[in-house]
Amino acid sequence: MIASDVEMGPGVAIPQPELVNLYGCRIGGGTRIGPFVEIQAGAVVGSNCKISSHSFICAEVTLEDEVFVGHGVMFTNDRYPRAVTEDGRMQGAGDWSASATLVRRRASIGSNATLLCGLTVGEQAMIAAGAVVTHDVPDFAIVAGVPARVVGDVRNNGAS
Ligand SMILES: CC(C)(COP(=O)(O)OP(=O)(O)OC[C@H]1O[C@@H](n2cnc3c(N)ncnc32)[C@H](O)[C@@H]1OP(=O)(O)O)[C@@H](O)C(=O)NCCC(=O)NCCS
Repeated sequence: MIASDVEMGPGVAIPQPELVNLYGCRIGGGTRIGPFVEIQAGAVVGSNCKISSHSFICAEVTLEDEVFVGHGVMFTNDRYPRAVTEDGRMQGAGDWSASATLVRRRASIGSNATLLCGLTVGEQAMIAAGAVVTHDVPDFAIVAGVPARVVGDVRNNGAS
């Protein structure tokens, strides 16, 4: 489903529109979105990004232009999530606040990575498959592992 409030630039490619869930978000021109992707209200995806299947991009996430998102990438926006308030009422929109995450231009996020919230991923940085990102990632850094640590630099053929 692509909700009527989604703002899309020219040439966005969604080959299986019946298999995505996009609502209230902004998608830049030329971006390609695979099946089983959810992009929530308030998320912003830049131009010429590639969002691979099964990824979740939540509210308060901004991807700049030319960002690659692998398969099954999970963003988060609530560091201490709870289903209910202290008195046992189901939490509503006013009971928690989202933390923003920014992924800068041409960064790549490997498959099955999880990003905690309130982070910045630097320009052209490379996040390894399966990493759990808990801190900001510097520009051009390669990070891997749980928790993700800097293991190299993309300007140096991967060496640190
Ligand atoms: C991080 C990455 C870019 C490193 O690639 P590389 O520079 O060719 O690294 P190498 O394969 O030479 O591995 C270097 C070391 O890092 C380790 N390593 C590689 N990928 C890793 C990962 N995802 N998590 C943890 N460690 C990893 C290797 O085991 C190796 O360690 P060792 O020397 O102790 O054996 C790559 O492994 C990766 O994860 N790419 C993302 C792939 C992906 O998700 N694509 C999505 C679309 S298909």
